[in-house]
Amino acid sequence: MWKNKLGNICAYVLSGLFVTIFLVVIVSGMFFGFFLFARTAFAVDSSQAAELINQQCLQCHGEKGFTVQRDGKNISLFVSEATYKESVHGTNACTTCHPGMEKDMPHKSAVYGQALQQKVLQECEACHDKVTKDYRTSVHGKLASAGKETAYCGDCHGSHNVLKKENPEAIYYRLNISDTCANCHDGKVMDTYKYSFHGTAVNFGYTKAATCADCHGNHTILAAEDPQSMVSAQNRPETCAQCHFFARDGFAKGMEHVTPQDKKAALPLYIVWKIFIVLIIFDFAKDGSIVIFELIRQLRGVNEVKKHTKSKDTGLNA
Ligand code: HEC
Ligand code: HEC
Ligand code: HEC
Ligand code: HEC
Ligand code: HEC
Ligand code: HEC
Ligand code: HEC
Repeated sequence: MWKNKLGNICAYVLSGLFVTIFLVVIVSGMFFGFFLFARTAFAVDSSQAAELINQQCLQCHGEKGFTVQRDGKNISLFVSEATYKESVHGTNACTTCHPGMEKDMPHKSAVYGQALQQKVLQECEACHDKVTKDYRTSVHGKLASAGKETAYCGDCHGSHNVLKKENPEAIYYRLNISDTCANCHDGKVMDTYKYSFHGTAVNFGYTKAATCADCHGNHTILAAEDPQSMVSAQNRPETCAQCHFFARDGFAKGMEHVTPQDKKAALPLYIVWKIFIVLIIFDFAKDGSIVIFELIRQLRGVNEVKKHTKSKDTGLNA
């Protein structure tokens, strides 16, 4: 009897367990399915919402030649829809980087230049937090935090034309980055890079030679005197060793941005430069004098021949 009861209990428990598992699977399956559907539906919905906002903004900002006058300067407010759509952020609403603008119509708090870059920086930070954290430690980032004139995200990456880093059209692509730095850094630094081994190679499209960012970094650029800088005396060997694997001792010790005329900073270079100038002058003088003496000799020769043939001619005619 008791055996029968036990059998029944077991049967109830087992079938109860079976039904529970069955129900859990069905319900979670339905839930999961709904979740997937909702996600896709929401994604479609949000990209459609973005498209709607963008069309609204582009009604005015898609107009070629749309400008505003500020401090006597014409500022272009035109945003090319085609360029924007091709950029990495092309499916985002304009308001991801310019929040609140859709409600602020006509815009009352318009700012431009560095002030606008400063505003947008916070939005870049919302999605690129790790990069921005690095950036905040750099010379450029510290000046940005102080609201000063400096390189903001948009200065090195563009605003509505941000492309992937391996795209040759990107303004921060390896072969373009030195031109981008050159927008703000000119003079000695650029001149010396242009004529350096690296600069010349990069100019010819050689992607393996060092660019500004290989030696200085991109989001962690520090002043050369800062011991943490990639180009400080102590870190320089490691920086060069990224590419110069078997460099001799002292390879990294030389000055980088230095012209031969700079006697104080680079005496050996200055001396070599002077010796070369003397050699070149000597060489020109030597080669030049050879040519001149040879010319004189030849002219004399011509006169001799003329004299000779003249006397013969008279002889024949007589
Ligand atoms: C990824 C972020 C980002 C998105 C998305 C974005 N912008 Fe911008 N926008 C910027 C930055 C950065 C600047 C500042 C550029 C500068 O000062 O050089 C800017 C500047 C502007 C300006 C001022 C004029 C100028 O070009 O400097 C206008 C107008 C503008 N954006 C409109 C738009 C419109 C319209 C859209 C959508 C089609 C859009 N933005 C989407 C980042 C963005
Ligand atoms: C009815 C036309 C119109 C529409 C629509 C419009 N804007 Fe503007 N926008 C302007 C004008 C005009 C200015 C210049 C305002 C000024 O300098 O006082 C401007 C300036 C801007 C600037 C630069 C100034 C700043 O402080 O940011 C940005 C960025 C901008 N608009 C973004 C947008 C975005 C994003 C949208 C869509 C949500 C949008 N605009 C929709 C007319 C328009
Ligand atoms: C001084 C120039 C400069 C500034 C300022 C700058 N970047 Fe960059 N950034 C670069 C360079 C150069 C690279 C390319 C690195 C490479 O080719 O590997 C890069 C790469 C990136 C990448 C892609 C690769 C990665 O490291 O994840 C992102 C995202 C990025 N930057 C975002 C930002 C944001 C956001 C800001 C502002 C907080 C910013 N950058 C400021 C120069 C700059
Ligand atoms: C709404 C979030 C969002 C905002 C705001 C945003 N980004 Fe991005 N960004 C992305 C995503 C997502 C990608 C990757 C796109 C892809 O892989 O196609 C990306 C890609 C990039 C890349 C290319 C990275 C690579 O690997 O080549 C750069 C550079 C970049 N963003 C810079 C910026 C800058 C500068 C700003 C501010 C002006 C900004 N982003 C604002 C989300 C954002
Ligand atoms: C939008 C302008 C701008 C751009 C673009 C820019 N910088 Fe700068 N940079 C500055 C300003 C401003 C300072 C601070 C003033 C100074 O010290 O010259 C600075 C400082 C520096 C310093 C520290 C100089 C020192 O010893 O004090 C280095 C190194 C540097 N930048 C390298 C770069 C490199 C490399 C790039 C390109 C990847 C770049 N910068 C792009 C504006 C810019
Ligand atoms: C991103 C890679 C890279 C980095 C970083 C780099 N170089 Fe170069 N460098 C090259 C390439 C590539 C060449 C040309 C090929 C060659 O001759 O080896 C070159 C050539 C040179 C040359 C002339 C030819 C030679 O091999 O002697 C000198 C000098 C030089 N580099 C010095 C330096 C110094 C000093 C540093 C560090 C401050 C440095 N480089 C960092 C890639 C780099
Ligand atoms: C091969 C490595 C290398 C490359 C490439 C390079 N630099 Fe430098 N940079 C250095 C070193 C090392 C210093 C430290 C001072 C010196 O040696 O001239 C320096 C110093 C600087 C300084 C500070 C100068 C000062 O007087 O305080 C700036 C700004 C700078 N570089 C910008 C750039 C820019 C912009 C580019 C690209 C056009 C670039 N550098 C390319 C290695 C490099």
